[in-house]
Amino acid sequence: MMKKNQLDKFYMKTIEERIEALIELNKADHRSVADFKADLILPEEISDHMIENVVGTYQLPLGLALHFLIDGQDYLIPMATEEPSVVAAASFAAKTIRLAGGFTTEAKSRVMIGQVALKDIDDKEVAIEEIIKNQDQIISIANSAHPSIVKRGGGAQKIDLRWIDKDDEYGTPPFLVIHLHVDTQEAMGANMINTMAEAIKPYLEQLTGARAVMGILSNYATECLATARCQIPVNILERRGLSGEEVRDRIIEANQFALADPYRATTNNKGIMNGISAVVLATGNDTRAIEAGAHAYAARSGQYRSLTKWTKAENGDLLGELTMPLPVGTVGGSITIHPGAKFAHHILGSPHAKQLESIIVSVGLAQNFAATRALVTDGIQKGHMALQAKSLAINAGAKGEEIQKVARRLRKEKHMNLNTAKQILAELRH
Ligand code: MEV
Repeated sequence: MMKKNQLDKFYMKTIEERIEALIELNKADHRSVADFKADLILPEEISDHMIENVVGTYQLPLGLALHFLIDGQDYLIPMATEEPSVVAAASFAAKTIRLAGGFTTEAKSRVMIGQVALKDIDDKEVAIEEIIKNQDQIISIANSAHPSIVKRGGGAQKIDLRWIDKDDEYGTPPFLVIHLHVDTQEAMGANMINTMAEAIKPYLEQLTGARAVMGILSNYATECLATARCQIPVNILERRGLSGEEVRDRIIEANQFALADPYRATTNNKGIMNGISAVVLATGNDTRAIEAGAHAYAARSGQYRSLTKWTKAENGDLLGELTMPLPVGTVGGSITIHPGAKFAHHILGSPHAKQLESIIVSVGLAQNFAATRALVTDGIQKGHMALQAKSLAINAGAKGEEIQKVARRLRKEKHMNLNTAKQILAELRH
C-alpha cells in the first residue's frame, strides 16, 4: 500500500515536491530522477538520430495519474499530454474504482500480424493448397530473416489465409492475403514483422505464380488484445442529489448511446484515447499504431461503436469493461533511448509488455468512466472550468488558501485568464 499522505493534495505540490514524493514512495530513485532531469531537453545527439531534418525539440508536460489499483498492485501512471483535465479525470476515476477493489485485467496473447497480399491469382484453390502445403517453409523463411527473436523465445508461429472477393463498387480485384502470426515478446515488433513479411514475399510469389502487392505489419492487432474490468457498488456512485442507482443507470444509458451512434461513439472513444495515447506516448510507444488499431477494433461489427461496455451486475453494481488491441512494447524503438520514456518505465516499476498493456487499458477504462459520469451528472464543463481556474490561480503565484480564493473569484469573471488571475491575487494580497 502507498503512503497515502504523499498523494494528498498532490496537485498543490510544486514539481520538486512531487518528485520527492515519487522517491518517498519508491516509485523513482535519485539516480533515475537525475538522469531524467539532466536530459529534460532531449539531447541533440538523441533527437537528431530519432527523426530526419531535426531543428529542435517539442515538449509536452509529463503528469502522473494517481490512485490506480490494477490487479492488486498500486501504480502512479505517467501521462504525456497537452490536454488539461485528462490526468485529473483519470486520477479521480481511479480513486473511486480503487474503493471498489480496483481494475482486473487480461492480456493473453502477444502476437502481431504481418500481411502479404497476392493478386493476379490464376487458380484460387491451387494457390491456397500450395501455401498450406508449404507453411512450415514459409515460417522458417520468416524466422531466418529475424533469428534473434527466435533466440528470445518468440518468432513466427503460424499462418492464416484470407480471401477477399473483388468489389465492383470500389473497382478492387480479388486478393489472397497471407497473415503471418509472430510472437514479438517484449517488442512492439514493427521492424521485425516488416522484415519477415518482405522475406516471405518472393517465396509466396514462386509458390502461387501470383504477384505480391506488399508485405507489411497490420496495425489491426486483433491477436494482441487487452481487457480491463471494474465492478463499482452503487453506494460509491452517489453524486450531488442523484442516488447511486440513478448515476449507474445514466452511465449505462450513455454507453448505450455510444454503442448505437457512431457520432457519439467517436467522441466517447476520443475520451478513452485521451488516456491511452498519453501513456503510450509517455512510455515511448507508437501512438498512431495504437490509435489506428483501436478505431478499427471499434468498427469490427461493421459499425463504429463505443470501445467500452457498461452494464448492471446481478447484484446491482455497475460493471465496466474495455477491450482493445494494445501492441505496446517495453524494448525497441525510442523506448530505451528517450530519457522521458526511460523515466516513465522506471516509475511504472519496469513492467513487462503484458503488464504495460494492463496498465494502459485500465487508464482507458478510467478515462471513460470519468467522462461518462461527468457528462450524465454535472456536465463536463463544470469540472474543466474549476480545474482551469485552479491552475490559473497557481500559475499566477497563488499559494495555500489563496488558490481556492483566487479560483472561486476567477470563475465569476467574464474572462478567465492569467492576467485576471494575477489581478485578483494582487487585490487579495493588498
Ligand atoms: C474530451 O477531450 C473528451 C470527452 O469529450 C469524452 C467524452 O465525451 O466521452 C469528454
